[in-house]
Amino acid sequence: MFALARTFALVGVDAEPVYVEVDIGGGLPSFTVVGLPDTAVRESRERVRSALRNSGFKYPDHRITVNLAPADVRKAGPGFDLAIAAAILTATGQLPRAVVDNYAMAGELALDGAIRAAPGALAMAEGARGLGLRGVAVSPQDVSQAALVEGIDVMPVEHVTELRSLAEGAIQPAARDEPATEPDGALPDLSDLRGHPVLRRCLEIAAAGSHSLLLIGPPGGGKTLALQRLPSLLPPLSPNEVIEVTRIAGVCGENGGPRLQRPFRSPHHTVSGRALVGGGSPPRPGEVTRAHRGVLFLDELGEFRRDALEALRVPLEEGAVTVARTTGTVSLPCRFMLVAASNPCPCGSGPESGECDCHPGAVTRYLAKLSGALADRIDIIHRVDPPPADELVDEAVEGSAAVRERVARARRIQEKRLGSGRANGEMTPAEVREHCELDREGRGLLEQAHRQLHLSARGWERCLRLARTIADLAGEEAISAERVTEAVARRRRPDP
Ligand SMILES: Nc1ncnc2c1ncn2[C@@H]1O[C@H](COP(=O)(O)OP(=O)(O)OP(=O)(O)O)[C@@H](O)[C@H]1O
Ligand SMILES: [Mg+2]
Ligand SMILES: [Zn+2]
Repeated sequence: MFALARTFALVGVDAEPVYVEVDIGGGLPSFTVVGLPDTAVRESRERVRSALRNSGFKYPDHRITVNLAPADVRKAGPGFDLAIAAAILTATGQLPRAVVDNYAMAGELALDGAIRAAPGALAMAEGARGLGLRGVAVSPQDVSQAALVEGIDVMPVEHVTELRSLAEGAIQPAARDEPATEPDGALPDLSDLRGHPVLRRCLEIAAAGSHSLLLIGPPGGGKTLALQRLPSLLPPLSPNEVIEVTRIAGVCGENGGPRLQRPFRSPHHTVSGRALVGGGSPPRPGEVTRAHRGVLFLDELGEFRRDALEALRVPLEEGAVTVARTTGTVSLPCRFMLVAASNPCPCGSGPESGECDCHPGAVTRYLAKLSGALADRIDIIHRVDPPPADELVDEAVEGSAAVRERVARARRIQEKRLGSGRANGEMTPAEVREHCELDREGRGLLEQAHRQLHLSARGWERCLRLARTIADLAGEEAISAERVTEAVARRRRPDP
């Protein structure tokens, strides 16, 4: 007796089809799972056996062989339970074959037969659509996520006995909600930040062009406070971006409905390179992918491991992480804004303050981390000093809403020029040449800065992108010398 059910393995941010083949033959009762299962998958036999017995099904007293094909994809996690159970029920004639023929399914079984959520519901619904199936059956917790996918029936199943209701047509597909685009909860607001007019300008430019930003300064100046307010300045996700972000959250094990807010990830400074950029077998998304379409915030940048920071270089430049596997490569998207904060030296006060008692060697090592190859990839570098007392009591500061409006206007100009969802910070060298032409005066200024600041070729290009954004914020098509001057100032590294 043989049956086949369909489910998925999560590879990177996608769901790859897995065929669950069940053969029930003569011989002593046994239950074998083959096809690169991890421990959780191998243990599914205990869950499936109890779930079927406790739900009034007959559990076959024969030799059961489960093959998960293709054999070269590593199968991880308990989400294969439901498909294995359905294939056994089909092979033993307890479930009409139409169920496994029409629906892919994913879910973990509880011992009483209840179906628990499985990671990656949205990716799996897309996978089922790719297979041309009528629908996908998932736990009720996974429905709101899977139902974002068009053109496929998402069937909520709460208990393994409901597979029968599926066969009888007694289950209604979940209604497909148009994803809303208004963020749900309130974000920390920029009105909390007192003073710091230049820092505010830096935040606005960074948000407008999706530029990376590094703040350096002594403790308590408001660096962390300011950068945590960046999400409130960014435009809402487009419906397509909602799907991208929700798919990534889903494969990382976050159930629940659409993610309407841009991700804001702030990994601790002890994070490893692998956890930051992702990888492994099967390939898993790292922090950079979880920050896709949002912000990656590295607080206390000087404390991060050097190798972890080095690992960021390629993803920052490429907008994707490429992971090699036996059957080719997997690409994990990671278009994020990098923002970071750091003290100027290990003690925090900075060597020029007169209060610093750090060993000069330690200061050099610390600065080397900030000014190395990573800093060359950062567009805006700003020195944050504690604001004077009169600024701290100033009540008349602008809130996030007004800034967000100017940012949105500048972004619309960029999308018209570069395509939807794109911003100046991501312009390719060819696009920089095309869209960032300077007049004679502007070019002269940039050449002068190049000599004085020892700009690298990359630094030169970054200045042009910044100048473009500053002009877009002003609604100007041509980049004037004034914009170039500000771009150079925003990039200037604080003298140690
Ligand atoms: N400009 C400011 N306006 C209002 N509050 C501020 C400002 N700067 C600092 N604060 C207050 O000081 C606290 C500490 O600020 P924050 O954590 O941002 O400092 P930091 O620059 O990140 O310091 P560290 O280098 O120690 O991390 C904030 O929670 C806030 O209450
Ligand atoms: Mg801080
Ligand atoms: Zn010091």
